[in-house]
Amino acid sequence: MRRKLAAGNWKMNGTSAALAELKALAEANATAAVDILICPPATLLHRAAEVAGDSAVSVGGQDCHSATSGAHTGDLSVDMLKDAGAESVILGHSERRTDHGEGDAVVLAKAESAIAAGLTAVVCLGESLEQREAGETLDVIGAQLQGSVPDGCTGETLVVAYEPIWAIGTGKVPTLEQIGEVHAFLRGRLVERFGEENGSAVRLLYGGSVKPANASDIFAVEDVDGALVGGASLKAADFAPIIAALSDS
Ligand code: PGA
Repeated sequence: MRRKLAAGNWKMNGTSAALAELKALAEANATAAVDILICPPATLLHRAAEVAGDSAVSVGGQDCHSATSGAHTGDLSVDMLKDAGAESVILGHSERRTDHGEGDAVVLAKAESAIAAGLTAVVCLGESLEQREAGETLDVIGAQLQGSVPDGCTGETLVVAYEPIWAIGTGKVPTLEQIGEVHAFLRGRLVERFGEENGSAVRLLYGGSVKPANASDIFAVEDVDGALVGGASLKAADFAPIIAALSDS
């Protein structure tokens, strides 16, 4: 049985004042029926980990470098993230792939580094609108999964987030059938690659305009084990009903 995961990606949002939202979330979730992860900007990570304390909320990074140290101005190594309190790291988000030209090989190297350090790699995959309309979705997702996820993954080391690029921050959401099709496809590929036990244990998140209003329907889809949430994770009052919907699913 996979434990469900509600993950929040704060992106480039939040200064010290935003820690009050995390505090509210941690206080409301001293224990929880699902895993809860918040990935704040790196500047808040250390304090966020302290605020989350031993509640059901854990914290993670939004990116890392593949090298463990060295001359990489502005970058963060997995050891730095861990030292700041991270247990997971989001990798290959479409905004990284687009804004920083990260291809599958770069994401793969980062994921290998994260897993070697004991972090859970939350690897993001997703098609553009053009690719969906051209009927290429499963080909694109399959290639990204093959290219950016390391060999030998387990349910402990890997989480995969399906995030159609056209659904991120747009208010547009795929149909439940479309989400189900991609998640079933991903499950099949994971089992093929990592074997029945490990492939079945990897959590599959849906991401892209998840809101309190659509969360329950999305969580009812087979093989959706949770969500990666951007905008609606910034406020505890918005994220709480999403966590509740996941707990009830
Ligand atoms: P959104 O972002 O929930 O604001 O659409 C999702 C994501 O990019 O992870």
